Parts: sequence; C-alpha cells; structure tokens
Amino acid sequence: MSQIGVTGLAVMGANLARNIARRGVPIAVHNRTASKTHDFVSEFGSEGNFTGSDSLEEFVQSLERPRRIIVMVKAGAPVDGVIEDLVPLLDKDDIIIDAGNSHFVDTRRREQYLTEKGLRFIGTGVSGGEEGALNGPSIMPGGPRAAYGEVEEIFTTIAAQVDGEPCCAYIGADGAGHYVKMVHNGIEYADMQLIAEAYDLLRHGIGLDVPTIKGIFDEWNTGDLESFLIEITATVLGKTDAATGNPLIDVIVDQAEQKGTGRWTAQDALEQGVPLTGITEAVFARSLSALRDQRKAASGYLAGPQPGGLSESLVDDIRKALYASKVVAYAQGFEQMASAARTYDWDLQMGELAKIWRGGCIIRARFLNRITESYAETPDLVNLLMAPYFRDAVADAQDAWRKVIVSAVDQGIAVPAFSSSLAYYDGYRRERGPANLIQGQRDFFGAHTYRRVDKEGSFHTRWSQDGTEVKTD
Ligand SMILES: NC(=O)c1ccc[n+]([C@@H]2O[C@H](COP(=O)([O-])OP(=O)(O)OC[C@H]3O[C@@H](n4cnc5c(N)ncnc54)[C@H](OP(=O)(O)O)[C@@H]3O)[C@@H](O)[C@H]2O)c1
Repeated sequence: MSQIGVTGLAVMGANLARNIARRGVPIAVHNRTASKTHDFVSEFGSEGNFTGSDSLEEFVQSLERPRRIIVMVKAGAPVDGVIEDLVPLLDKDDIIIDAGNSHFVDTRRREQYLTEKGLRFIGTGVSGGEEGALNGPSIMPGGPRAAYGEVEEIFTTIAAQVDGEPCCAYIGADGAGHYVKMVHNGIEYADMQLIAEAYDLLRHGIGLDVPTIKGIFDEWNTGDLESFLIEITATVLGKTDAATGNPLIDVIVDQAEQKGTGRWTAQDALEQGVPLTGITEAVFARSLSALRDQRKAASGYLAGPQPGGLSESLVDDIRKALYASKVVAYAQGFEQMASAARTYDWDLQMGELAKIWRGGCIIRARFLNRITESYAETPDLVNLLMAPYFRDAVADAQDAWRKVIVSAVDQGIAVPAFSSSLAYYDGYRRERGPANLIQGQRDFFGAHTYRRVDKEGSFHTRWSQDGTEVKTD
C-alpha cells in the first residue's frame, strides 16, 4: 500500500511525487490522461516506490487509510471536479490535500463542504516552481490541525531546509495556507517590479550596458539584497542570445504576463482596506506593460524627457532605494496578513511565516531572517517599519531613495513601485495627513459627518444653509 498519493502529474505534481518518493515514501500516482501516468512511471519509476493507476478508483484503493491524496491539478474548476470524483470513493477522515494555487475563498468553501461529508481537507501553498517541488519547496499548509499532523512528517521531510529547519509550518485553519501563499506571490510581484525598475534606471537612466548591470546585480547579491530573485536577475542578464549574439534580455518582448495571484492579493487588500500599494502597483505595471501597441503609438506622440545621462554615482543609491522599497513591500504584505488573521480568525505567526520563506520559495532572501528576528523581539509588531532594525535600515537608505525617485521623475522613467513605496512611508510617518480635507468635502456633498480633534462625537456643518455645525450623535 502507498502512504500518500498524487493526482495531477504535470510539472508540479510530477516533481512533488518524485521528491516524496526519493525520501523513501511509497507513493501512488494518477493523472486524468492515463498515458501521462505511464510515461511518468516509466521515466522516473526507478527513483522510488511508485504505484501508477489508470483510474481514480484503483488509485484510491492503493492507499493506506486514512488516505492522504495530494491534488495537483489546474487551479479553479478542475480542483472541484477532482474533489467531486474523489468524494464517493473515500471513507471518513480521509484527507484531500489541494497543493495548487487555489484562491483561499475556494479553499474555505471546499473545507466546509468536505467537513460536512466527514472528510478532511488541507489547502496548502507550495512555492518554488518545478525546481522547488523536486528538491524542496516552501510549504504553507492550512486546514484542521489534526489533519496536518497526519502529513506533517512527509511535508517537513520534502520541504526545503534552512539552518536545519524545514520551510514548512502549519499556518492556520481552512484557507490560511492558500492565503499566505497568495500574499507570498503578491510580494514576489512587488520584488520583481522593484528589480525591473532598478534595471530600467541602470540601463536607461545611467546608460550602463547589460554586462555591467549583470555585474552590479551579482555584487548586490553579496549584501543585504541577497536573494533568489536578485541571483536569477544576474543570470538572466548574463545570457547571450544564440541567434543574434546580443544579450537575450534585449530580444525579450517587454510585456509581463500574470496568472492571477498578484491580482487576488491586491483585490483582497482593497476588500480589507489595507494600503498595499507596492504589490498593487506591481500588478498595474504588468497591465501597463501589456498595452504594447498603445505604448508604441504614444512613444512618438506624448511629450516628455528622454532618459539618459544620470551619473554612475547613483548606482549605490539605486541599491538603497531598492532595499528600502522592498522593506515597504514586505511591511505591507505582513500588514495584510495580520489584517486577514483578524478577519478570518487565523492565529498567524508572522515570524514563522518569514522563516518558512527563507528557503525553497521564489522570494527566499537573507532579509527574511531579519523579519523573523523582528517578530521574535516584538511578537505584536504593528508594522515591520516600526521594528528597530528596519526603521534604521530605511532611515539609512532614505536620502538615496528620495534622490533616485527625483532623478527618475526628472528623466521620465516610470518607477511606480519605488515611488509608491516612498509615498506609503511618508504617509505612514505623518501624524497628521490631509484626509481632514477629504472629510470636509464628504460632509459638504453627502452630509457624511466628521470627527473633531478637540471634542468627542460626530459633527456636520450645514454648508449650504446657515453654515452652523451640529452634533449628529
Ligand atoms: N508551475 C509552477 O511553477 C507552479 C508553482 C506553484 C504552484 N503551481 C500550481 O500548481 C498547480 C499545478 O500546476 P502545474 O503547472 O503542474 O499544472 P497545470 O498546467 O496547472 O495543470 C495541469 C494538470 O491538471 C490536470 N487537469 C486539468 N484539468 C483537469 C480536470 N478537469 N480534471 C482532472 N485533471 C485536470 C492535467 O491533467 P491532464 O494531463 O489530463 O490534462 C494536468 O495534470 C496549479 O494550481 C498551479 O497554479 C504551479
């Protein structure tokens, strides 16, 4: 009998199954299109103890009870379809594990549905792409804690390990795991956009050539910015196009695609009223990049400065601006998770989250240790920017940060993630902002009332009548 099963043998499911099998765990495998199961077993069968099945019935019967079934199929309706097919084949307390990129709202719904059927459901985020799935991903499981206990040993064994600790920890009830994975992906969007803005400034603001920029990213990867995304940026910039002999980056079309997790993160932030500006700007920047034909037409039509001629002395300032903006992106992402924890009643352990992102996942970075330490020092930290380490790091970077944004604006180089991060920082550190005026306007046209700094209660001014103020509560 197999200890666990995987259905869905595309890139993620196949690699996850191989990772499990390589740890000596007997595993059942299945795919809707049976030929893929045969191909998989014939190619990788020697790596472990696999039982391939053509039908879902056979697959289920080959599993020890309580059955543990990882569903790794296309997110959305296919997950519901597979669940519907599995339910009549399962027994009480069997566990379905959705390890795809499902929306956390769907996970909450599925968990409730399956609980009513006497089954257990784990919605788990898995990050790291195909390489991570095979060699050690970051795993973010959510669902009933007792159900997690039944898969904990396998999950912690197959996860990436950093400093002897697995990049896997129980996140919380129902959709918590998929929620945290969603925010992880949102932060990934922001991180990538910030790196792209730094590249744009180096390339078109200062006018450096691609090999020089590659060298800069290599160097940045030895300091505070050390991370998977900086590392692969240098690798991408170092690649020569076989057809033209030029840097590959120069022949890649400048339209970024998206599968939806960044958009979900931004949508959820809007729902919760969390100011998630960095991630949201990163999503919009991809949308703007998609308007290639319009941008082409506008480039010769709309007035503005031509980039170029910035001093090379700005290189280190750009590094500092990137770091400070990145701190803001994480601060916002963690703030969003804290808000979700209150909304959905999840006991999210912020320091633990940073810890399980240190390895295996796309946003793995040296920086995450500092986040873990900050939450260890102050478990109820309201905002990462308030942690002494990050407060000091941003204070140290802020002159450079402002200088870089001023230079970008002067040059006509759009840096939406850099500048929105700074705007958030400046907005956050202002004891009194300009929203008093907005309240005055709202009260004027809609009698929405306002509160006063010097008295308790709600007030309305009869703007269009006698101009007197009345207390409304
Ligand atoms: N690719 C990545 O880097 C990555 C990283 C993290 C998470 N994820 C997530 O992991 C999940 C799997 O991703 P993937 O890239 O490996 O695969 P995918 O391309 O998203 O999905 C293909 C798999 O889904 C199966 N499938 C599709 N519709 C189905 C249906 N109606 N019923 C049953 N099976 C169905 C396919 O079976 P057939 O072979 O029969 O078509 C195939 O096994 C997704 O949720 C994805 O978002 C992916």
